[in-house]
Parts: sequence; C-alpha cells; structure tokens
Amino acid sequence: MDNLFLTVPSAKAVFDQNQVILQRAFEEKVAQLASNNYNRTTAITTIPVVFHIVLPNPANVTDAAVTDQLNILNRDFSGLNPDSTNATAFYSVRGHSEIRFCLAQRTPANIPATGIVRVASSTTSSVGLGDPIKYTSSGGSDAWDGDKYLNIWVGIPANPNILGYAWFPGTPPPIQERGAFCNFRSFSSIQPTGSSLFSAYDNGRTLTHELGHYFNLQHIWAAAGCGNDDGVSDTPPQDVESFGCPSGLQTDACSPSAPGKMYQNYMDYTDDDCMTMFTILQGVRMQTALSDPTRIGLTTSIGCLPVVLAPNDASILTIVSPVPNFVTCDPTVPLTITLRNAGTNSLTSVVVTVKRNGTTIQTFSPVGLNLASNTTQNFTLNPVPLVLGANSIEVCTSLPNGVADTDPTNDCKTNNVIQGAGTPLPLVEGFEGVTFPPIGWQRINPDGGLTWQRNTIGLMHGGIADAFVNHFNYGTNGATDDLISPPYSIGVADSLWVSFWGAYKGFPGFPFEEFQVAVSTNCGGSFTTVYNVRDDTVFAVAPVTTTANWTTSSLDQWIRQSVDLSSVIPSGNVQVRFRTINRFGNNFFLDDINLDKKIFLNNDAGVTAINSPASRICVSSAVPVVVIKNYGKINLTSVKINYQLDGTGAV
Ligand code: ARG
Ligand code: ZN
Ligand code: CA
Repeated sequence: MDNLFLTVPSAKAVFDQNQVILQRAFEEKVAQLASNNYNRTTAITTIPVVFHIVLPNPANVTDAAVTDQLNILNRDFSGLNPDSTNATAFYSVRGHSEIRFCLAQRTPANIPATGIVRVASSTTSSVGLGDPIKYTSSGGSDAWDGDKYLNIWVGIPANPNILGYAWFPGTPPPIQERGAFCNFRSFSSIQPTGSSLFSAYDNGRTLTHELGHYFNLQHIWAAAGCGNDDGVSDTPPQDVESFGCPSGLQTDACSPSAPGKMYQNYMDYTDDDCMTMFTILQGVRMQTALSDPTRIGLTTSIGCLPVVLAPNDASILTIVSPVPNFVTCDPTVPLTITLRNAGTNSLTSVVVTVKRNGTTIQTFSPVGLNLASNTTQNFTLNPVPLVLGANSIEVCTSLPNGVADTDPTNDCKTNNVIQGAGTPLPLVEGFEGVTFPPIGWQRINPDGGLTWQRNTIGLMHGGIADAFVNHFNYGTNGATDDLISPPYSIGVADSLWVSFWGAYKGFPGFPFEEFQVAVSTNCGGSFTTVYNVRDDTVFAVAPVTTTANWTTSSLDQWIRQSVDLSSVIPSGNVQVRFRTINRFGNNFFLDDINLDKKIFLNNDAGVTAINSPASRICVSSAVPVVVIKNYGKINLTSVKINYQLDGTGAV
C-alpha cells in the first residue's frame, strides 16, 4: 500500500478518509461496549469464503487441508484455541471476534459449490496491485463477487519468502483483487503433497494474521516507536516486530515491565505456535470493519446457504461458441451451448430458443435427452446467420420436462458478436466503460501471463480509466500482448488516421518495452505493422526509468501519437491492433484512442501562417508574407488574399 500511495497520492487520500470513518465507528462502539461491560451486542456474522488453489498440481493442497484451515480460522477468531495458555499475563484483555467463516455453498450464479476452486497453473502471486494469481486471463483464478465473498488465493509467491498478504478495507484494490493471498507452504497444518510446510509457519496462523488485516487490524507494533499506533488501546505499545517463539515475560523500551510485549498476538510476527490471541478491542475493531462499503455486503451474503434445487429447472449455463464479443467476417457463426439441469428431477425434455437482436431464429428440442440433476451437457445448434455490425445472440430454455420452469432467472444467456463489415467511423475509446476489453475488442495473450487490463489508478489522459500492461511484474522476455479493435467501415474518405495517448517508464538497468500499431483489412486475418517504437524513445518523460511499480501522476506524462493510415482506404474496412512487447521494463499505459477519417472538399484554401510582419516590430511598415495551403482536392490555380489592419477594411 505504501508503494501505491507513493505513486498515487489520491489513493492515499481515499484510504485515509475511510480510515477516519472506521476509526470513529470503532470509538463509538468501544464507548457503547464499555458502558455495557463488554457484553456481546452483535450477532455472529458468518462469511462465505472461496479458496482459489493455483498450483501446477492444485490437488496437492487437499480438501482436508482446506477444511483444516477453515477450522483453524473459526477456532482462532472465536478464541477457542487451546494454546492460549502462553499468554496468561494478558487474559484480562484477551478477546475474540464475532466473525466466523464457511466454505461457500453456492457460486455468485447460485450454482451449488464446495467453496474450493482449483486451477492447474504455474502463475505466481506478486504482492500488490494487478496480482496475476487473481485473474484467469493471466493463468490465475478470477475472484467471486468480492462484495459477497471473501476470496482467498493459495499458491506460490513470486518471492518465495512471502507468507501471505491482504488489503485493508476502504481502499484500492479493485473488487476483483479484494481478499488475501496465502503461500501454499504456510497454509493449514496439513502438509501439501510433494512439498513441506515452513517449520515455523505450519499451523494455519498466516491466514489468521492476514484476515486480521482484511478486517482492518494493523500490526501490533504498527509504526516504529511507542505510540498507540495500531489504533487499539488494549495492546501494549511495542517498538518493532517479534520473531521466533519467545516465552514468559518479554520487554522492550516501549513496554519495559510486566506484562511486557504482547508477542502472543496474531498481529505480531512470531511463529504460528506462539501467536495465540486477539485482544477485546481488536475483536471490536474487526467487527467495525464490517461496516465499510467494501465489507458490508459480506454481512448479507447468502453464499453460506446451500442451493435448494427446485423440481423442474433448466438453465443455459454458458454459450461456449461464439465467445463474448467475437468478431468475424463470416456470414454465420457456429453455436454451441452448455445446458444445465438445475432441478432435482432428471431433465428429459426442454425447448431451447435462439434469438438474434430480439428475433427468434431457431428453436431446438434435444432428442433422447436424459440429464441427471445438477449436471450439464453441451449441444451444437445450427449456425446463427449474422447481420452487419452488432449481433446480440440470446439462448434461453423453457418448458423443462414439459412444465413451467421453477426458476426462470437462470434460463437465458447472451453473447455479442460483431460481423466484419464493420461499424461506421469514428472509433473513440478511452476505456471508461467497466467492460474490458471493451465490447467488440479482443485481447490476445499468447503466454497466458500478464496482459492488457483496465486501470483506474493514477492520472488518466482523460476520464477515470485507461488500459495498461503491468510490465513491472511481467517476467517473460519478448511476450506480446495485443488489444485489437473491432472492424470499422471506412466508406468515402480522403484521409484516415489513428491517434492515441501513451505513457511509459522503464526500470533502471533493464531493457525497455516496445509498442507497435498494426492494421488489418480482413477482419484480423492478417496485420501490417504501421508504427513501431521502443517505448523510452517516445513515451517516457524524464526520468525515463523508476524502480516503483509506476502509474501516471500528471498530464505531461501523456504523449500523443498519430499514424497516417490513408493507404488502406481502398480496402473499405479497418481494424487496429495495439501490441506491447515485454522486455522487463515498467508499465505502459494507453488512453483516448481515436480512429477517424476526413473527406476533403474540392475547393478549400486557407492561411496557415503569417510570416511577416512579426508580432513585434520597430518600423512603421512591413511587407506582409503569408503561407497558404490548398486543403482542397482540386489544384489551386487562383486565390484572393485579403489583409486588413485593426479592422480598417480589406486591402
Ligand atoms: N508477513 C506477513 C504479513 O505481514 C504474514 C506474517 C504471518 N505470520 C505467521 N506466523 N504466520 O502479513
Ligand atoms: Zn501482516
Ligand atoms: Ca430455469
């Protein structure tokens, strides 16, 4: 977070403001509880958790290990851990929280679930914004709705010494990155198959600690020095972190006499077998964090409730083909869907209806269907004929087993397809819409690593968002990442160009990234490169390198480039591809793309400059010299030039 705040002071302002609100709520709660002698006044809140296990072999972290970790969290958060006996000196302030955890029993789409997602991948976790382990597009696992679920990623950190990390409430990251990461070697007390747990961090306390942060607890020592800097008055002041597994009275300059330092606190850095307690006020502070806008949705989530299946419930789970925002030059597109029996009865008949832009174009009733409860089956239907431009393809189920569907909310899915003859110019794209890539755009990520993402951190060229590639964390030399616009029809034009704004910095001692623009005139069948630079030569404003995970902070860091595409006009269709090539430098940002044309007039002359007189002269007269330009299509063979002084009439 300090890294982020260095580059984006506005993120710090938002965080500080939210912390003030939380602190006030905390103090009110403390006063209320004090007058009530710390009796419990709030009900237990059970929070649905989804564990994303991202490992080359994710089965190496077993279901038993996940259950064990969940039990450890519930034991520690409820204060029922039997090892608290190492903290007798602090029994009077020993507390617990009213927070408990369950394995999510349903997905955000209300499909029965175990709360465990496994992804076979070698993608690692990088601490901070844009962590690739949190995105399916970079080989990780996409979060479930972060308002309703606590997402915990378990995997391998890029820095193998990291045990875990989490974000505080009331601040970035984007909702997709909320939650905690835990090293698989400090996860639960059960050894992962084929690997070992860290010997000192082998009792699941890494997540007890990280979730303390997730619920707004600071480290017990917080900032250096002896102030009440962790914001809870019942933890003794402590100068720096404690390591290892001390016992008995431990003192430092801040707590020089009994009871000494509270090295037994979960928010210290001691070994798992040594940290055994939250304080009463830490419990209150965690409870208060639930009122933050980024946490409050957890309190009303139904993620812990198992799905109750109705008798007859058919559903389109996904449209497998066409993929969302598919672009094609073909007159039709193949259609494959996944049908799901969401009911308790076997599904023996169903009607599948396909609409394109609201008009029914086929219905389909699978012959000999016999789909067991809570299972799926794929079907390929007739290809869908397309119209030019946007095609919204909606597929719905009806009449499961010949009766009305018990739950019509899951009947339909829609995907959009763009047919290649293209939409009319201009293309104006500033990445302001939350959908990324924007509708009709494609993102090509051949190595499955980091790639183009929408970004809302920093100072955009315009609006609140831009697109960027996180080269700061990107470890694959030469990896390309493409962002490709949908096709646009050119029509009548005399000139065609694409302009865009870029911002970049490199990393000291490492090669710089490259940026290329290419165009296709055959719906992406082939591309011709029309612009090719090494980023530091064009986009980096001095200093051209930084060791920070760089984001933009001022408008003068944005550089506009414009590429003449007039030579492709005869082809009628144009699609633009933006490519970055990773070379271990730093982040590249792209904003406010404009693809447009101009139609010249036949007779169009203009003055582009007055070369004489100069703007300030010491003589009483001068011979006017002007530059005129023929903007018209026809050769300029005569033109009249008028001049006048102080509006005294044309000469
Ligand atoms: N270093 C990490 C953090 O500050 C985790 C520390 C976990 N400690 C432990 N005994 N498991 O968030
Ligand atoms: Zn910590
Ligand atoms: Ca249904």
